[in-house]
Amino acid sequence: MDVFSRIFRPGFVPLYLAPQAGVSESPFRRLCRRFGADVVVSEFVSAEGIRRGNERTREYLRFDEAERPIGVQIFGADPDAMAEAAALVEDVYGPDFVDINFGCPVKKVVKRNGGSACLRDLDLVGRIIRAVDAATSLPTTVKVRSGWDEALRNPVEIGLRCQEAGARVLTLHPRTRNQMYGGAADWDEIGAVADALDIPVVGNGDVKTADDAVRMRSQTGCAGIMLARGSHGRPWIFAQARAALDGRPVPPDPDVAERFAVVREHARNAIVFGGDERHAMLEFRKHLGWYAKGLPDARTLRQELFQVTRLAEAEALLDGYLDRYAAEVV
Ligand SMILES: Cc1cc2nc3c(=O)[nH]c(=O)nc-3n(C[C@H](O)[C@H](O)[C@H](O)COP(=O)(O)O)c2cc1C
Repeated sequence: MDVFSRIFRPGFVPLYLAPQAGVSESPFRRLCRRFGADVVVSEFVSAEGIRRGNERTREYLRFDEAERPIGVQIFGADPDAMAEAAALVEDVYGPDFVDINFGCPVKKVVKRNGGSACLRDLDLVGRIIRAVDAATSLPTTVKVRSGWDEALRNPVEIGLRCQEAGARVLTLHPRTRNQMYGGAADWDEIGAVADALDIPVVGNGDVKTADDAVRMRSQTGCAGIMLARGSHGRPWIFAQARAALDGRPVPPDPDVAERFAVVREHARNAIVFGGDERHAMLEFRKHLGWYAKGLPDARTLRQELFQVTRLAEAEALLDGYLDRYAAEVV
């Protein structure tokens, strides 16, 4: 049985942790898996970087066995380079699938025709998928937006071309490149693509609560659901979404002490993974900010946490906050 037959088993809607540069790193992926994410995907990695084998890239590609099933996401506009990168990824890292990024809107990437820029040339999209698929024995999946801009907005056509070229799963974030993250994700487009394609279609965009996951599933008939920003500082959203999809009562958000225990676990793993405590803590600040969100007097706590360079300092701040919180001073 291949990995996707297990993931998309009848009656089950898998939850994906989205690929997110600077966020979906190994420690966060592990945490989300523990909270019930069924599939995780690495942040996007440049095909050129993989071929050059630079150290930063190797860091992006490392993962722990506990993260499986995991996809490594690659991007680039040259089919041969993408094929070579995919083959290297399979040989050296052996993920469960290779995902191709056709969605990234950022200038640095699209100016070299990568990410969502490929959507302006669907022949090129087809060639990239075919080349990557032929280069490895792993399944190839794709993540796309609805098009480059309103004039070229055609998610069904994009989906059909990806399927025809051999994509095994398609994730749609139904915004155009020009929309970046503005406006609302058009879930009707997820429904239209899910209707038109035979392969599983994973819906993505604006799922911020367990209830959103249920609504996306019922409005679109998508085979799976992918969350990005809704998971920031809230990895437990996967457990909540799973309960809601199963029709069980949704577990409440963890209380402050439980939340801080998750922060510690995440931070410790980030340090072990990164090796350099100072660097890991600097990188971890964004997570600290997200974890603090919504807490009483979060602003002060966040400002304090943004100064830390050692785990022990963060822990002392969290302990102090908990003491004050218990004494209801904040
Ligand atoms: C910080 C950040 C980094 C992202 N990096 C990637 C990436 O590397 N690859 C990718 O396909 N999408 C990336 N995305 C897009 C997300 O995977 C997702 O498509 C988008 O955020 C919409 O989902 P959401 O509404 O659940 O956030 C990124 C999004 C964010 C917020």
